[in-house]
Amino acid sequence: MKKITIAIDGYSSTGKSTVAKQLADYLGYVYVDSGAMYRAVTLYAMQRGIISKEHFDAQKLIASLPSIDLRFEKKSAWNKAHIYLNGKDVENEIRNLEVSEFVSPIATIHEVRVKLVAQQQKMGLEKGVVMDGRDIGTVVFPKAELKIFMNASANERAQRRYKELLDRGEVVEFKNVLKNIEDRDHIDTTREDSPLVKAADAIEIDNSEMNLDDQFHTVLQLAKDRIAGRV
Ligand code: CDP
Repeated sequence: MKKITIAIDGYSSTGKSTVAKQLADYLGYVYVDSGAMYRAVTLYAMQRGIISKEHFDAQKLIASLPSIDLRFEKKSAWNKAHIYLNGKDVENEIRNLEVSEFVSPIATIHEVRVKLVAQQQKMGLEKGVVMDGRDIGTVVFPKAELKIFMNASANERAQRRYKELLDRGEVVEFKNVLKNIEDRDHIDTTREDSPLVKAADAIEIDNSEMNLDDQFHTVLQLAKDRIAGRV
């Protein structure tokens, strides 16, 4: 069967990665969480004191880029691939609120994006890939056969992320989670390089009122149509 490229972009905590993973599993495609790559670079910068609440040494980060090695590895066929930063599994660590607070400034750096986009494009060379992020349909795979743009209200997204963080055992306040989502929306949509924007040919899905099942079946139908060349 013909393999296609599926790009899923959208605001933070819109459930992109959930639907992308479901879709990849169903279709037997590779799922790539591009946000995990920006988060892993952020963790590297935090660990080396390159970024903190007080300062951000962008030049030092740019100079360090050749020493940042990112890989995805699957622990088992049905699990999500984990991201490895210089050989260490950091899948869990990159999800905390502190990384979320620094990731958007890191993602504005052109040289960071050049490095990560090149790696992402390599992973998609053979198609059969579902990738989620902010610039997948606009920059990474502008020719993707299916582009989805996901949205939901900021309050709904913050509720979802708050619950996720609590479930992981993090001690966080709702107002800080909401603020982080609003701050990231702002930085991600206004940055100069590859801002978050809906590609002209993307299909927008607002899932504020949708459950996971409805959302999956909506996207799956779109994917099946594209694979069959119906639309
Ligand atoms: O999961 P969540 O929606 O919170 O975000 P993510 O997909 O893990 O991405 C974290 C951050 O990385 C975003 O807020 C962007 O600043 C950046 N990012 C990006 O610039 N480009 C991408 N393709 C993916 C993420």
